[in-house]
Formats: sequence, structure tokens, C-alpha cells
Amino acid sequence: MAMVSPSILAADLSCISSELKKVKNADFLHIDVMDGVFVPNITFGTPLMETLARLDTPPLDVHLMIVDASRYAEQYVELGASIVTVHAEAVTHLHRLVTRIKEKGARAFVSINPHPPVSSLEEILPVVDGVLVMTVNPGFTAQEFIDSASEKIKKLDVVRNQTGLGFSIAVDGGVTLDNAGVLVSDGADILVMGAAVFRDDSPEEVISKIKELRR
Ligand code: DX5
Ligand code: ZN
Repeated sequence: MAMVSPSILAADLSCISSELKKVKNADFLHIDVMDGVFVPNITFGTPLMETLARLDTPPLDVHLMIVDASRYAEQYVELGASIVTVHAEAVTHLHRLVTRIKEKGARAFVSINPHPPVSSLEEILPVVDGVLVMTVNPGFTAQEFIDSASEKIKKLDVVRNQTGLGFSIAVDGGVTLDNAGVLVSDGADILVMGAAVFRDDSPEEVISKIKELRR
């Protein structure tokens, strides 16, 4: 069964408690941390994590789109993240950071932008808990899905079958009820969804429909 991680970037933060009620049945809550350097937008940081810790939320799935991920990643684990995702392109000593995140007690995912090939992850795959395939150029919610980037899901699924590695495959950017079925049959386990959940009239129903999808 597929899992859903609604992205709070698409929520109305003026009423965060009621927005969180919309996603009670989700598997995770996706937090997009952006620094205005790695991506052309600035969003949230540790203060939002501290706020969420006082509220009723699904397990937190933190996506770090920052240049200095190795400096900040562990703080997010300490603040309660279940998953911490870092971008391979933004971390010099990726193996070290992934190991540290896991030692601290979170699942460590690595993300790749639309342009690098799956082969660039070959050496890190045995160490990570998951790969987050970006199907938009990171930075904003409600962007158009990039079809060619989603091909990486199939490629990662082949690698997973050939090697017997147990990493999860997550997909982020432009995911909707319309394309979710194909993504899950290609091999995606976790679907990050911003606008398609928070800006829908029936978010709970969208989440339930996604959770019913299987390969
Ligand atoms: C994009 C972010 C995504 C975004 C997804 O940079 O990493 O998580 O919030 O939003 P949608 O699903 O609306 O494309
Ligand atoms: Zn994200």
C-alpha cells in the first residue's frame, strides 16, 4: 500500500491547527526546509518543528533543501523528525551525514533533483533508508510535474530488485490523484503531495485514495 506525506508548504499557516486536522490519516507530514541559496525560496526552520511538536501531527518527514545540510540535519532529528532527507548535490560528505542521521534515530533519505542520473547514487544506496525522487525543480509548491524525472522511479526499482536492498522510493513534486497510480506501479512507496492534498476540498479522501493504491 502506498504512503502519503502531505507537504505543509501548501497549507494555510494562518490556521495551522485546522490544516493539520485535514491530514490526520496521512502517514507522514512533509516539512520543506529551504534556505534561499540551494533553492530560490526561503521557508521553514527549527521554530516550525518546535511548534509542530506541541501539536497533533503525523510523523514528521523533513526535506532539507539547504546548502549546509550537514550542519543542521541532526538538529531536526533532535526536534522529532522521523525522516530526514538531504540532497546529494548539497552534501560533500554524504556517507558521513547519512550515518549520523541514522545513529541519531531517524530514517535517512537522499534526494536527487531532476537532472542527475540514478547512477550517481549507486555507492550511497546500500546506506540510505530511502531515495526522494524530485519530479519538479525544488523550491515551490504547485509546479508542473516533470515526466522525464519520474523515469528514475522505475530505474531505482530495478536496482532494488537486482540488489535486494531495502530502501524506500519517495516522489516529490506535482504529484496528484491523476498521476499517483502510475508512480506507485512504477515503484514509489511514499508520495509527497502539497497542493493536491491541502488545496483539495476533501483532503482526507485524497489521502485515503492514495493509501489504497498498490502495485
Ligand atoms: C518542492 C517541495 C515539495 C512541494 C510539493 O520544492 O520539495 O515538497 O511542497 O508540492 P506540490 O505537491 O504542490 O508540488
Ligand atoms: Zn519536499
